[in-house]
Amino acid sequence: MAKPHLSFVCQNCGAACQRWQGRCDSCGGWNTIAEESVSPGIAARNGRVFGLSSLKLSGEPTAPRITTGIGEFDRVTGGGFVPGSVLLLGGEPGIGKSTLLIEACAKLATADRRVVYISGEEAVDQIRLRALRLGLVAAPVELAAETSVEDIVETLSRGKRPSLVVIDSIQTMWTGLIESAPGTVGQVRGAAQALVRFAKTTGAAIILVGHVTKDGQIAGPRVVEHMVDAVMSFEGEGGRSFRILRAVKNRFGPTDEIGVFEMTGCGLNEVTNPSELFLSSRESRAPGAAVFAGMEGTRPLLVEIQALVAPSPPGTPRRAVVGWDNARLAMVLAVLEAHAGIKLGQYDIYLNVAGGLRVSEPAADLAAAAALVSSLSGQSLAAGMVFFGEIALSGAIRPVPHGLARLKEAAKLGFSHATIPQAAPENGSGVASALTLCGCAHISALVAGLNFDRAGPQR
Ligand code: TYD
Ligand code: MG
Repeated sequence: MAKPHLSFVCQNCGAACQRWQGRCDSCGGWNTIAEESVSPGIAARNGRVFGLSSLKLSGEPTAPRITTGIGEFDRVTGGGFVPGSVLLLGGEPGIGKSTLLIEACAKLATADRRVVYISGEEAVDQIRLRALRLGLVAAPVELAAETSVEDIVETLSRGKRPSLVVIDSIQTMWTGLIESAPGTVGQVRGAAQALVRFAKTTGAAIILVGHVTKDGQIAGPRVVEHMVDAVMSFEGEGGRSFRILRAVKNRFGPTDEIGVFEMTGCGLNEVTNPSELFLSSRESRAPGAAVFAGMEGTRPLLVEIQALVAPSPPGTPRRAVVGWDNARLAMVLAVLEAHAGIKLGQYDIYLNVAGGLRVSEPAADLAAAAALVSSLSGQSLAAGMVFFGEIALSGAIRPVPHGLARLKEAAKLGFSHATIPQAAPENGSGVASALTLCGCAHISALVAGLNFDRAGPQR
């Protein structure tokens, strides 16, 4: 076997370089390079002949998924965990990852599955205290505080095959096969490899917890993202109690579904109607606020889009966007100027999606445009109005998918009017009685409909 050699590896992105340097060439991180010994990997040996097979399934067409019974969680995984798959759950420290997972473990264990929870961060008693607080002490979850991957794999291989193993967190795990210190990229990668192999060979589902840095990257184990079947992130807004679970990558399910939870004094509660939550603290009469009837995966979700248009000091005006795409804002501004005569070059512009949600649908264009025009004019939009529609560069308002589901959600939440693309939504007859639909074919029609005074802002 070849001798292990030393190498310099970026702890942020995993890139290797020849010598120590202050800044990583690959990801640009400062002071992220550390010395690691790299094991030469698998020793050279003669190849072995293996059998090849056909595409035809030999057993059940789909392995039954392991559902936790926490609806918001199961939806994001695509209907439960796939046996033998590995899922990485990322999130900032303190966001509630351990809480979510111990709740999921308890549910599964109560449903007669073997569930093992291994913590490398907390002592067993700390986990028990959390379980006590959550009222889960009776659930037969098997617990341990361990960090050696070899010991963990050996222990798990004894007895009944576990349905689910939680490793909290991957950064605390280490393998004796690699000489570098726990927490380094080499260790994290090595430990994850061993656990992925265990999952694939035994059919146990594994969840790895990973910490993320402030900019949302899963710290260190970015490399792990490529090794696992699914990556989920658990997010929340500082000071607010709701949390969003989102699939970033999923080999076995959709990546556009979100799960919404609320952190309470006794654990996470599912939020089955998130629109109510996101609109709850709304000041409906404030200028610059428009309600967007959006979709998150298969579920309609109403959120408020807020714009602030303020005179800019001389120089380059500011454009700041939270929760939406910068380039899309630039496009909407250009279309407003070119096709509706609204000049915003002299103004600082801020756009925010309320509640910490991220919107990626083009369908939000119309709501953003309405919020911008409303803020510029200082006139609030009609109460009880929702918006959706995509704006084309020509100024035309294009239809978007799921029109009916969006309208139904708006009607359910007590909205009375909807400004939508001209083309009627698929079979909107039932909803039309509950909502007054204002079809809008062009951006100039939207602006005219808002009674914006073209002579200038009225502030
Ligand atoms: P935790 O699950 O330990 O977060 P993570 O594993 O992501 O670091 O949750 C920590 C926070 O959640 C902590 O600030 C306390 C709070 N919390 C509650 O508000 N209610 C609860 O029932 C629990 C268990 C925690
Ligand atoms: Mg934790």
